Amino acid sequence: MSNPQRRGEDIIIRSPKAHEGGAIWQIVRDTGTLDLNSSYLYLLLARDFADTCVVAERDGKLLGFASGYRRPAEPSVIFLWQIGIAPEAQGQGLGKRLLGGFLTRPGARDAQWLETTIAPDNKASQALFTGMAKALAVDYKTSPCFAAEDFPEPGHAAEVLYRIGPLTDSARQRLNP
Ligand SMILES: CC(C)(COP(=O)(O)OP(=O)(O)OC[C@H]1O[C@@H](n2cnc3c(N)ncnc32)[C@H](O)[C@@H]1OP(=O)(O)O)[C@@H](O)C(=O)NCCC(=O)NCCS
Repeated sequence: MSNPQRRGEDIIIRSPKAHEGGAIWQIVRDTGTLDLNSSYLYLLLARDFADTCVVAERDGKLLGFASGYRRPAEPSVIFLWQIGIAPEAQGQGLGKRLLGGFLTRPGARDAQWLETTIAPDNKASQALFTGMAKALAVDYKTSPCFAAEDFPEPGHAAEVLYRIGPLTDSARQRLNP
């Protein structure tokens, strides 16, 4: 049985391995809130974008992941695409650790800006990203990114862009992944 009081030292934060896309797909499915893409897509991410993706592992089991990429049109930006923590591990600080680990991946280390989009009603995600800006002592700005009408499927929320930074050396020194 999982123990919610377990301390975090036994959690490993690392890049995904090529075969772990399937386990990442299962985490996304289990969150119940993230857009679930095909398992093939997560397998490709884990194989080809491992330098800008991160997973949290405990006792051989993946408990969380974050995926991202450098924006081709603005390479100083590391864009975080999806972040998800398994339901039984949410609300225990793992999202914070994973986001810190995301910013120290080989493909993110020299990025100047962190961007992501968040639905207006996702309070946990808003707290996670604004909390990271505060922890790094940097600013953040929000602006509209995608309107609800941009999504062809009914009921999809709008996505608000969060831009956090600049991620200077002194800001990065505050990271504690
Ligand atoms: C969003 C998510 C990644 C956060 O990870 P987490 O491990 O649960 O969050 P943490 O325990 O690290 O907490 C981070 C901050 O969020 C706050 N928070 C956590 N859960 C919350 C909730 N349900 N409501 C409001 N705030 C919440 C914490 O208090 C903390 O803020 P603080 O630093 O001001 O105390 C996780 O809840 C999740 O996977 N949710 C479902 C998928 C999702 O919505 N992903 C984001 C899409 S943009």
